[in-house]
Amino acid sequence: MSQRRLFVTTALPYANGNFHIGHIMEYIQADIWVRFQRMQGHAVNFVGADDAHGAPIMIAAEKAGKTPQQFVADIAAGRKPYLDGFHISFDNWHSTDGPENHQLAQQIYLDLKKAGLIETKTIEQFFDPEKNMFLPDRYIKGTCPKCGTKDQYGDNCESCGAVYAPTDLINPYSALSGATPVLKSSDHFFFKLSDQRCVDFLEKWTQDGKLQPEVANKVKEWFSVRTNPDGTQSEGLGDWDISRDAPYFGIEIPDAPGKYFYVWLDAPVGYLASLKNWFDKGGPKAKHGDTRSFDEYMAAPDTEQYHFIGKDIVTFHTLFWPAMLHFSGRKTPDNVFVHGFLTVNNGEKMSKSRGTGLDPLKYLGLGMNPEWLRYYLAAKLNAKNEDIDFNADDFMARVNSDLVGKYINIASRAAGFIAKRSAGKLGEVSADGAALLEALRAAKETIEPLYESREYAKALRETMLLTDRVNAYVDQNKPWELAKQQGMDSRLQDVCTVCIEAFRLLTIYLKPVLPALAAQVEEFLKVKPLTFSDAASSLGNGHLIGDYKHLMQRVDIKQLEALFEPPAQAESAPIATDLIAEATVPGGEVIAPTITIDDFAKVDLRIAKIVNCEAVEGSTKLLRLTLDAGEGRMRNVFSGIASAYKPEDLVGKLTVLVANLAPRKMKFGISEGMVLAASHADEKAQPGIYVLEPLPGATPGMRIH
Ligand code: MSP
Ligand code: ZN
Repeated sequence: MSQRRLFVTTALPYANGNFHIGHIMEYIQADIWVRFQRMQGHAVNFVGADDAHGAPIMIAAEKAGKTPQQFVADIAAGRKPYLDGFHISFDNWHSTDGPENHQLAQQIYLDLKKAGLIETKTIEQFFDPEKNMFLPDRYIKGTCPKCGTKDQYGDNCESCGAVYAPTDLINPYSALSGATPVLKSSDHFFFKLSDQRCVDFLEKWTQDGKLQPEVANKVKEWFSVRTNPDGTQSEGLGDWDISRDAPYFGIEIPDAPGKYFYVWLDAPVGYLASLKNWFDKGGPKAKHGDTRSFDEYMAAPDTEQYHFIGKDIVTFHTLFWPAMLHFSGRKTPDNVFVHGFLTVNNGEKMSKSRGTGLDPLKYLGLGMNPEWLRYYLAAKLNAKNEDIDFNADDFMARVNSDLVGKYINIASRAAGFIAKRSAGKLGEVSADGAALLEALRAAKETIEPLYESREYAKALRETMLLTDRVNAYVDQNKPWELAKQQGMDSRLQDVCTVCIEAFRLLTIYLKPVLPALAAQVEEFLKVKPLTFSDAASSLGNGHLIGDYKHLMQRVDIKQLEALFEPPAQAESAPIATDLIAEATVPGGEVIAPTITIDDFAKVDLRIAKIVNCEAVEGSTKLLRLTLDAGEGRMRNVFSGIASAYKPEDLVGKLTVLVANLAPRKMKFGISEGMVLAASHADEKAQPGIYVLEPLPGATPGMRIH
């Protein structure tokens, strides 16, 4: 096949927080596809960027005492450990606040205006008289007009599910200042999606068979009925409000002082901006010898453009974005690949800006192999817009029994014999082995289309079936027995050669998912970087392989336990704080919601003497403390401080005990209370646990007020 030219993106994450595992899943899905295409010899430009603009980021920056520019720069500075850590091979990472995006967004807008698709309408909106700004729906709260629940958002009620306009709220208030908002009118710019030209174009674009069927069906509904924010129904596509009034962190609208593009207008343009930035830096020239300009590349008929996105942002990518491109005289995407949401251990979907469940950096910090996660997610991903769940037990089973047990095992069973008994040299392959290898080679025709169509789960299932066949071959031929028999040296070499060759073929099929492991295998086999076309060849008689080093550990249950140990108190964070940058959060976690002195008085804290302390057999985390809190009896308390203290460090010390905590039954016995200790929420960024000790003079039993 001739070389394809592919422009691939993932959704641009809001720059108001670090990546969560949902983002990483999207990047892994796209990265596997990109690596597969590169292994086919195609020229891929794979780019991402931070989505920098919008009211939430502006407000979060203000709260953090930073300019929005500084705020998003700080977030951007934290991206690399995640992307490198999970082997995400972006060619370029940029920002929607970059100069390319300002220029491109303004140009696209002017082109749309020229096409007669921009209209001005005067609308009435809530305005915060203290903050002097129009309030986005999210920042207006009040009492639900339907059920009377207090403190509901401006667009829908979390209690009864009612959908309404902010103006319907009873006793509305600004979530920013608490002030009562006033209605104020303002001119807004609209993109006329209701224009018949747009409707005709989009109906065709979305229903011509390129989109996933379930996505196309969903989109179809938007052409007929639409629910307005006030709950009424209207027919067909509505015009899209693309402007916001100052103050706003965004891109200025040409010839409209004080007006900015709504963040979703310039966000997808950021795909082009990042690509342009990559072209202007000479990336495609250095990488693929592509000497064209960005404009030439984008206009070329053979440039294919694909966006990987989540199911929550389909409207923007299948309606607004193709219409913006088409009616500004540009080519439209070849496809939009929609994935579902990742949940963790059957939990709820990760919130937009606050990750829950599985912290990607914690995962890496615990020394867990990023390719375990890549393999596990790939084994669950298909081409459908379906949610998938990360399940810890399932994760461990698949990695340990399939990836390590079936695949890695093949190399470890054969490599030693080749090294020791044949001086590292491969031998002849006999007829039975050749037949097995032929079957493995033929599987390329099945596996390639599965990667191409993003059916990774099926691709891995096919590959694992092949590993079963190879392992059956090993079991039949028993190299460990051949090694003991006289005169069987050449048969031993033959069998092990088949295993090594099979391992090479399997590595090709797994390489899009396991790039770092494949690189280790290439070194071990002394071969050039493997591509799919290498499936046709073989290492050959006499090929020298290198020393086998163990390629991959198994998942240790202790790692999973540590990974899912809840980060203390993260759940109690008040709503608005999900917008605050982590850097400004003391000790790595937000201050909990305000309590009264009566609330505090419920907690009975006492001075207690640690009269004994010992390690807990079967636990690396816990110490067993025997505490005297002046009650005339001893208390048994388990504390997760074994990483920080040796038992003898603590015996005889005074500390603080939560004396009225309900006793808790644990695996090792009953814990009658809790001792207080300080730590940073991100134990990787700032390790250490510090048990509290009173100043001299306190005695056991004294209450802490
Ligand atoms: N900034 C917009 C996208 C602009 S694209 C021009 C945005 N950002 S986001 O940070 O909220 O989400 C980025 C991507 O992550 C989206 O594709 C979204 O669907 C995806 N995910 C967010 N949570 C997710 C899961 N729990 N699981 C999988 N993907 C998830 O939307
Ligand atoms: Zn309600």
